Amino acid sequence: MDTKNKILALLEKSGGESISGEDIAKSLDISRNAVWKAINSLKKDGYRINSVNNLGYAISSDNNILSVAGMLPYLKDENHASKIRVYKSSESTNKTAKEMAISGHEHGTVVIADTQTSGKGRYGKNFYSPPGNGLYMSFISRTENLRFKNPSLITTAVAVSVCEAIEAVSGKKPKIKWINDILLDNKKICGILTEAMTDLESGNIEWVVVGIGVNVNNPAEDFPAELRQIAGSIYQRESITAARNRLAAEIINRCLCLKTWLDDENIYNKYKERSVLLGHRITVINPNEAYEAVAVDIDINGHLVVKKDNEEITVLHPGKVSVKHK
Ligand code: BTN
Repeated sequence: MDTKNKILALLEKSGGESISGEDIAKSLDISRNAVWKAINSLKKDGYRINSVNNLGYAISSDNNILSVAGMLPYLKDENHASKIRVYKSSESTNKTAKEMAISGHEHGTVVIADTQTSGKGRYGKNFYSPPGNGLYMSFISRTENLRFKNPSLITTAVAVSVCEAIEAVSGKKPKIKWINDILLDNKKICGILTEAMTDLESGNIEWVVVGIGVNVNNPAEDFPAELRQIAGSIYQRESITAARNRLAAEIINRCLCLKTWLDDENIYNKYKERSVLLGHRITVINPNEAYEAVAVDIDINGHLVVKKDNEEITVLHPGKVSVKHK
């Protein structure tokens, strides 16, 4: 981290309390003049920093800029900060993370953007990614670090992790629509897109890139007309403090524990407890047909088990079908 970001991290950590220029200078072993210059440069970047005579500097609570320094106070493992890249704009954080995975970046690398110019959803759809209100992040998982058997387990574990992170930050209790949509008040607030690289000779998956897009503070009227009925947001342009930085950190804290989570049988129960489909009549849509059924279970592979009206039990594989519920 450069001096400017180190100062930003100190201000973020102090949670709005003033720190004197002298204390900052001492703790970073730099001159008071260097502190003053860095503070001015942060202000030019858009940070609201209050300079109080004799007391020093304090970061205002209404900053809404994504930064590693802003995530730092909430990261369980501060060393992870060096693996996080934050961009103002990205074509797609999944695309960047995949390129980084191909060029050898390590397990746990995280790419975050304030906006995406070509955010990617499942089934080749676009993912609405305006600046200022959402969180768009992708992380690299190298499979030797995960020892997982079935890729859909990753999405299952990530969906639970993201719900728990949203709950920790907002106190709201999101639900999951199989396989990867996160809902609040029946509206989608988050989508997850998992992409993988397979070694064709061994058939082994080498790495997985998990992309997570969350509508954090998007007012309903800002969504494009075609999304307005189905998309929601954790908050609605509320005056919230550090929500995006904190949410990013809480997601990172949980997704880094995926290794143990994937061995945790309890993950299925956690997933099922949040399911909006289980026990409900749904419409199953695959390329050749659509039929009604009741969602009865999610198996240990993360597949949805449905009972057709003729009592036949069918296991649905994610990616091959989509489902609608009433
Ligand atoms: C879906 O619901 O269809 C999945 C949406 C996944 C969107 C996220 S945003 C961050 C990452 N980058 C992308 O281009 N897509 C994923």
